[in-house]
Amino acid sequence: MRRPARHLLSIDDVSDADLRALVDRGAALSRGEADPPRPLDGQVAGMHFRMTSTRTRAAFSVGALRLGAHVLALGPGDLQTGTGETSADTGRVLAGMLDLIVARTGGAVAELRGWAAQDRMSVVNAMSGTEHPTQALADLATLRLRFGDVEGLRILYVGEGNSTAAALSLALSRFRGVELELRTPPGYGLAPDVLAAAGGHAARRGARITELHTMHAPPDDVDVIYTTRWQTTGTTKKDPDWRTAFGPFQVTEKLWAHSPKAAFMHDLPAHRGEEVTPGVLDGPDSIAFEQAANKLYSAMAVLEWCRGDIA
Ligand code: CP
Repeated sequence: MRRPARHLLSIDDVSDADLRALVDRGAALSRGEADPPRPLDGQVAGMHFRMTSTRTRAAFSVGALRLGAHVLALGPGDLQTGTGETSADTGRVLAGMLDLIVARTGGAVAELRGWAAQDRMSVVNAMSGTEHPTQALADLATLRLRFGDVEGLRILYVGEGNSTAAALSLALSRFRGVELELRTPPGYGLAPDVLAAAGGHAARRGARITELHTMHAPPDDVDVIYTTRWQTTGTTKKDPDWRTAFGPFQVTEKLWAHSPKAAFMHDLPAHRGEEVTPGVLDGPDSIAFEQAANKLYSAMAVLEWCRGDIA
């Protein structure tokens, strides 16, 4: 009998055991240790991206193909969601035809929860307005590969408290001994509910998460410095003078001097000279492009997990 489909809409939908299994599986696939069978043989995976994507869409499309699925591209204006069809009706109809859908809506995750109100077609959030969970899974797989373990790492996140920062906070706060410090511009921090949820995870698992709105006195000797672009795909900032607030939050060689052994991470796309200097992004300690490459392996792990093949 067919197993009920699993959905990945938020990091908080995934148990601790499954989170670790997804991270480990992504890392193993990246190392070439785990030759995957073709668990999606004959299945159909829809890719619905309402906003641009280089990495996430390619990773899930190629990942689905490598796992044996056929891929159906559904463009930004292709569904009737824009003409008033409810999300529950959309999910119910698509579930009769697709085995899996990966969607970047850029809007509220509630829409995807409507699609996921059935257990035949898996729904994967490829970035909503509030969270980018599959990015965090690729990031943690990259950390696992670089450091051997995620537990105990000290990570400095610099920049906007956007969907990537939210997913990263919700994921890292579930690993013992992790110290995550976010430095976000005033007015551009993590959403209070995300900070509270991540703080709760951290308290229960022996991790620590802090957020400050200044670049004064950055921490020394962190393991990782992570940033993201200042203008997240599909978003705009109301304040025309927002760059004044973001200016001090650029990752520079001067910031690097506080943590000379740190690895640099960036979810990409990057804007050299804005959120990061070219010297840091293209320097020897940058693992941003390994991180991007790992999106494929992490996507494959997510697709396997959705169909019940890991954890
Ligand atoms: N990091 C990331 O999500 O990249 P894309 O927007 O290109 O998918």
